Amino acid sequence: GRGVPAHAAQSGRQGSRVVSRPRGGVGDGWRLLQGGRVFYVARMDNPLRQGLSTERAPAPCVVVIFGASGDLTKRKLLPALYNLAVSRLLGPGTSVVGVARRPKTDEELRAEQKENVARFSRRKPLDPAVWDDFAQGLYYCQGTFSDSDTYVKLRVLLDRLDQERGTRQNRLFYLSVPPSEFVPIVEGLSKAGLVADPNDPTHGFSRVVVEKPFGIDLESGEALNRELLRVFDERQVFRIDHYLGKETVQNLLVFRFANHIFEPLWSRAHVDHVQITVAEDIGVEGRGAFYEQAGTLRDVVQNHLLQILALIAMEQPVSLSSKDIRDEKVKLLRSLAPVVEQDVVLGQYIEGTWKGVHHPAYRTEESVPPGSKTPTYAAAVLHLHNRRWDGIPFLIQAGKGLDDRMTEIRIRFREVPGNLYGHSIEFFPRNELVIRVQPDEAITLEIMNKKPGLEMKLEQTRLNLRYDAAFNEDIPDAYECLLLDVLEGDESLFIRSDELAAAWDIFTPLLKSIEQEQMEPEFYPFGSKGPERVKALAERYGITSEL
Ligand code: BG6
Repeated sequence: GRGVPAHAAQSGRQGSRVVSRPRGGVGDGWRLLQGGRVFYVARMDNPLRQGLSTERAPAPCVVVIFGASGDLTKRKLLPALYNLAVSRLLGPGTSVVGVARRPKTDEELRAEQKENVARFSRRKPLDPAVWDDFAQGLYYCQGTFSDSDTYVKLRVLLDRLDQERGTRQNRLFYLSVPPSEFVPIVEGLSKAGLVADPNDPTHGFSRVVVEKPFGIDLESGEALNRELLRVFDERQVFRIDHYLGKETVQNLLVFRFANHIFEPLWSRAHVDHVQITVAEDIGVEGRGAFYEQAGTLRDVVQNHLLQILALIAMEQPVSLSSKDIRDEKVKLLRSLAPVVEQDVVLGQYIEGTWKGVHHPAYRTEESVPPGSKTPTYAAAVLHLHNRRWDGIPFLIQAGKGLDDRMTEIRIRFREVPGNLYGHSIEFFPRNELVIRVQPDEAITLEIMNKKPGLEMKLEQTRLNLRYDAAFNEDIPDAYECLLLDVLEGDESLFIRSDELAAAWDIFTPLLKSIEQEQMEPEFYPFGSKGPERVKALAERYGITSEL
């Protein structure tokens, strides 16, 4: 058909068109289509990024998890790896080594993780055959991260696994630890000769995944980065932001750039404002010590929220290669003005009852000092200085202890000029596009309609695309997608170092003034809508919740 890439094969599926791209063999370059139209084909890091179905087959590898007794390992990493095993997406012999301080045998680790996976996996119940097979490849390595013996032991184990399980010296080091541990681990790995040169074709790959926070501000972020890059090459470093692995977040580029009708509207000419919200109805859940260092600005806003904003506002990349996508994101982030105090509201939850359960105040959580000013909620208006968005406010909000758990993007369009229906409605109608990231994934568009009947009455109604109704497929967990990408070496959904620096640039001045001035957060009860002052901030920019 017209406009379908020449090399793409087509196959029908119940009325919808599924396009699949043959793997490999497609080089970079311009392609000429019949009719004289040209388009650029870049080597795909990962054909799935295009939403095209194809087989993925990562090489066998040992995944080494530092911080194996942590929360992330039990809730996310192990369940994700198990689910990849269920989907037969792990290379044969792929193994997992947990490194942590407490003494433990392989068998104990297997039994403990079996319970965790059974509890936290999206697929239930546990498939005993897949689990048994997966658990055979699960090993424990006891040691502290600052002790060189730990790495000597690890090396012996990894060499053995290469022999016994055929993992071909492919290593993925997952640092699920506080940032203060990054440097000792990376140095330990390097001294034990566990980091391969990425340019050496005779050796398997070494990759490192780092979890946020990557520092606490621009300077510390850059210092951390320098340390990492003393040992690893930028191509080997995967800075994870798990929001980028979410299905609906990955759909943002497809939605914008594989449809024609939204692009002409996607600018200051037609958009009134944009809101992005990450609301959670849980507290810090035992992570008080971590949260005290981070607060919501470093925990969610500077990364998850900013990434969503970048995908919503960026220009079309030259191609879907990881370089081109990340180049556009960096450009967008660099056109964001640093956030100023007047455009920010901070909050902290106090005790409250939500869904019949009483929750304590943040200040009384474990490891939180009673006078803590750490924000558990933040709202900020961001301004983009570029041609597309100049003057359009982006209101971003994130908080814990609220009355809802949802992430959504609202794009409000301008008022319909010359209200022809002024006699039947007292306001100038507007449209709103809502992208519901989670839960109940959906895309809805608010439009005006005539209410059926003999009178001319108008009603705001909704075009509604619900994922559960539109697609048969289950939504994989973000960590499944991202781990698979690291195993395949696809960097598109990871944060490049210049991108990280640009993100810190936006928030560092604000973070500094909050700390210097000891800014007081506004208290809000657990299970409420958050601080009252947000309304005034929104109104200052003409942002209302009513259409
Ligand atoms: C993490 C934060 O990055 O994201 C947590 O550290 C937060 O504090 C979590 O709860 C939210 O992720 P999700 O996938 O549950 O929306």
